[in-house]
Amino acid sequence: MTASPPVLLDTHLPHLFYRGKVRDIYDLGRWLPADAGPPLLLMVATDRISAFDAVLPTGIPHKGGVLTQLSAFWFQRTAHLMPNHFVALVDRDWLAARAEALSAAGLSPRKLGLLAGRAMVARRAERIEVECVVRGYLAGSAWEEYRKRGSVSGQALPPGLRESQRLPQPLFTPTTKADSGHDQPITPAELVGLVGEATAHALEAKSLGLYAYAHEYALKQGIIIADTKLEFGRIGGEMAVIDELLTPDSSRFWEAAAYAPGRSQPSYDKQPVRDWLVASGWDREPPAPPLPPEVVAQTSARYREVYRRLTGQGLG
Ligand SMILES: Nc1ncnc2c1ncn2[C@@H]1O[C@H](COP(=O)(O)OP(=O)(O)OP(=O)(O)O)[C@@H](O)[C@H]1O
Ligand SMILES: [Mg+2]
Repeated sequence: MTASPPVLLDTHLPHLFYRGKVRDIYDLGRWLPADAGPPLLLMVATDRISAFDAVLPTGIPHKGGVLTQLSAFWFQRTAHLMPNHFVALVDRDWLAARAEALSAAGLSPRKLGLLAGRAMVARRAERIEVECVVRGYLAGSAWEEYRKRGSVSGQALPPGLRESQRLPQPLFTPTTKADSGHDQPITPAELVGLVGEATAHALEAKSLGLYAYAHEYALKQGIIIADTKLEFGRIGGEMAVIDELLTPDSSRFWEAAAYAPGRSQPSYDKQPVRDWLVASGWDREPPAPPLPPEVVAQTSARYREVYRRLTGQGLG
């Protein structure tokens, strides 16, 4: 086993564009003004982890690298299905090739070294303010709703389905993109009201297409993608996938060999973190308590394991 790199919780670089729960995003055009072309962002995935809508005080080693490199992997693999915002992975070579320009802009190579493997260059998009969720299996909040009302996101399903069972066909269950707090499910009519008929149709078709492709690919690697959340935007008027793609933060990944409907499945995401937080008795009001080292180590190992399983390679 390799030693863990230092955990990166925050970056403090010039020209911040946006700080999310997990990503620090910079305006790359201000770093490298000579690069003409569409506006570019430098998206840094930190090692921050959020659960129950709160960012935890403890970071997860390697998490940022997994999120960025796994997204890069999927963006490249799915580009034939749908354009996306990915331009390049920021690795040591990318940084070295631009060392002079970056230091002329006052960015020290030492500070930027922290970004290698965890940042990507992406084209800036106008966000479409919806979270496009696709569910292939009955899990999480979908299972809760089905148990109570026999439906998922208001869509009626056949009776007698069991927890974690594969759905007759994948469901598109979009939600609002809340600035804070919980995302709320939206009906097909509400989606049309928000984004218009043509975009609503495209969001659904593209989300289902990307899920179907990724589900089939992952299954060959022994991983079930139970559900996932996608974001779309417009770049130069064209619709594109943005943000992160098919990562453990945006998706439920299950071990296919251990899959057994009728119960919840152990998953490769932050479930151990959620379980520990629930058991700790935390009232879900910030600040969240720090995570114990064994939960951190277990979570880090799972993120890396799913990366290796899906890509067939170790983390770069
Ligand atoms: N190409 C892009 N152009 C513009 N914004 C983008 C692009 N890709 C992703 N984003 C936005 O960048 C942010 C990514 O940061 P992060 O994942 O940490 O945020 P989040 O906590 O999920 O979301 P938020 O902070 O918006 O609730 C998201 O708000 C996402 O919508
Ligand atoms: Mg996000």
